[in-house]
Amino acid sequence: MADDWQEEYNFAVEVARKAGAVIRKAGESEIKISTKSSTVDLVTQTDKRVEKIIWTDLQSKFKDKNYSFIGEESTETSCVLTDNPTWIIDPVDGTTNFVHGFPFVAVSIAFAVNKELEFGVVYSCLEDKMYKAQRGKGAFCDDEQLSVSDVKDIKKSIIISEHGTDRSPEKVKKIFSTMQRILCIPVHGLRGSGTAATNMCLVASGAVEAFFEIGIHCWDIAAGAVIVKEAGGMLLDVNGKPFDLMSRRMVSANNNIIAQRIIKEIEIFDVIRDDGQPQKT
Ligand code: IPD
Repeated sequence: MADDWQEEYNFAVEVARKAGAVIRKAGESEIKISTKSSTVDLVTQTDKRVEKIIWTDLQSKFKDKNYSFIGEESTETSCVLTDNPTWIIDPVDGTTNFVHGFPFVAVSIAFAVNKELEFGVVYSCLEDKMYKAQRGKGAFCDDEQLSVSDVKDIKKSIIISEHGTDRSPEKVKKIFSTMQRILCIPVHGLRGSGTAATNMCLVASGAVEAFFEIGIHCWDIAAGAVIVKEAGGMLLDVNGKPFDLMSRRMVSANNNIIAQRIIKEIEIFDVIRDDGQPQKT
């Protein structure tokens, strides 16, 4: 029988809860901020501290296994996903929210084997909601099973997108042009929680029909990808081709009708893939 990675999954839930408690506590004192790729790409000491806690805990629990690790704060430029069992972690998804006290911040932990995502855990730590899914076993928020919305008419949908951290005018223009086109379909509304992981859990919960973004990283969306799929939803690249975790582009939706309708409106712009490989067109 194939390994169902149950022990790893259970431990990921435990570690995510512990990390969330550290983030909540850190939010009560002064937050030390620095920047990464641009002046609006924020990182705090808490991001780094929490990633260290997670990785140390995982390493000591699974010390005999040779698991690989991709973590937002440990990745300098590019990262490669191999066939080796790999943890993919965003210690604080929604760092800008965390800095500003905007109440959506998530710990995201995923596990991939042979480049296939086996499970994902997203702990929305300020709301105290534990979203989780194992491949083939359904998606849950705490003990409640999740299911995507059954809306097929885009005009009855709410869509999420984000602006990311690249402020170059030509990219911002394309982002807003896409948003305008989608808003004017018209849809019921456009939203954004400020964390990609939480946005995907909102798709999985049926609160919104879709979330798309160009510029996210694999650690923002790996756990959410399993949760969306297990709730009955789907993932695609923004060009309509199969979802590619390392491409930094994604549409997650409740069904293919909604996904394709959004894809029709997306103005694609260039981003460098997480693995540094040439972007597929
Ligand atoms: C960010 C959030 C945000 C998304 C950005 C991400 P971070 O992650 O997920 O919603 O728009 O593209 O980088 O930096 O807070 O971990």
